[in-house]
Amino acid sequence: MKALVLAGGAGTRLRPLTHTGAKQLVPVANRPVLFYVVDNLVDAGVCDIGVIVSPETGAEIKRALGDGSRFGVKFTYILQDKPAGLAHAVATARPFLGDDDFVMYLGDNLIGMSIREMVRAFAEDASLGASVMLKEVPNPSAFGVAEVDNRGEVISLVEKPKEPRSNLALVGIYLFRKTIFEAISRIKPSPRGELEITDAINQLIVDRHRVRFSRLDKWWLDTGKKDDMLLANDTVLDDWLKGSIEGEVDDKSVCSGRVRVGKGTRIERSIIRGPVVIGENAHICDARIEPFTAIGDGVTLLRSTVAHSVIMEGTSIVDIERIADSLIGKRVVVRRGSSRDRTLSLMIGDDCVIELSRE
Ligand code: DAU
Repeated sequence: MKALVLAGGAGTRLRPLTHTGAKQLVPVANRPVLFYVVDNLVDAGVCDIGVIVSPETGAEIKRALGDGSRFGVKFTYILQDKPAGLAHAVATARPFLGDDDFVMYLGDNLIGMSIREMVRAFAEDASLGASVMLKEVPNPSAFGVAEVDNRGEVISLVEKPKEPRSNLALVGIYLFRKTIFEAISRIKPSPRGELEITDAINQLIVDRHRVRFSRLDKWWLDTGKKDDMLLANDTVLDDWLKGSIEGEVDDKSVCSGRVRVGKGTRIERSIIRGPVVIGENAHICDARIEPFTAIGDGVTLLRSTVAHSVIMEGTSIVDIERIADSLIGKRVVVRRGSSRDRTLSLMIGDDCVIELSRE
């Protein structure tokens, strides 16, 4: 079994953060979403992984993932010259995939469940043409939507229907055999101009292949927008964070609850209430960090309070009374100007400098 991870595409929903970076690399609890995707594949025993990349963000994706040795896997990078759809990405990867069965995993999807059982069930049942993961959602029109029967099989799929026939959304994890290539060769681009994988799966069904589904009964997080990102961060910190202090915490500081502090980080005269993750080489001084906060590598936090926020690497926050519910990109400077402040709720892109005026 191989895997195909889709890390191409354009990435517009999380602007401004994705102006300067790939959306699959946006950090959740200080790790790129894509790393959790790889973890899940490794957990299912899939270690031969093709990664679809785009000309715009391919170099950045390669830099982050490397050759795979740090995950114990092998990556093969496959350039998709334009984001012409999920089925187009699969067709582009044919030389890598060959005749093998494969898991296709959208690189911006984060789920709270192992795919091991889904992969095993597909591998053991040769009569299946494909298998998809579905989850009940309140807003199915935003997704691919499945109509299913009561034997666990998919009858049809529609991409982002205006009038959905069910509330079962496609989660973005699919299992295929080589028959998918024949199906893709027979579909045409959709009205939005993409070769849709949903159309290719419908084609499989028309050609009398069985398509089963697994139901996702744990969380599924979209990292598309600020509030979704914060929710993703909360959930991962809540479910997966293990406390450990590798940096230095002075005896005037208090860390309570689950707090992870990376190497080279110094914490002085500060209060940290977990769950909180702090990366490497950060400096936290006379500060307070409240629950559900992720502080990236090299962040400086002086005489400030941060609550329920994601602060990415290299950012500095100085003399700010309280920042809450915020998503702040890399290398941002937030510092006191000449006015007094109130609680802030921000979404700021990379390389910004924000100077607040004093009241
Ligand atoms: O998130 C689940 C949804 O993902 C499914 O319910 C939909 O059926 C499926 O079409 C997809 O919808 P999105 O509109 O969210 O897809 P998006 O364009 O965001 O692309 C998903 C991932 O695949 C993302 O990591 C970018 C990558 N991609 C996308 C396209 C169109 C590629 O690598 N190449 C592409 O050509």
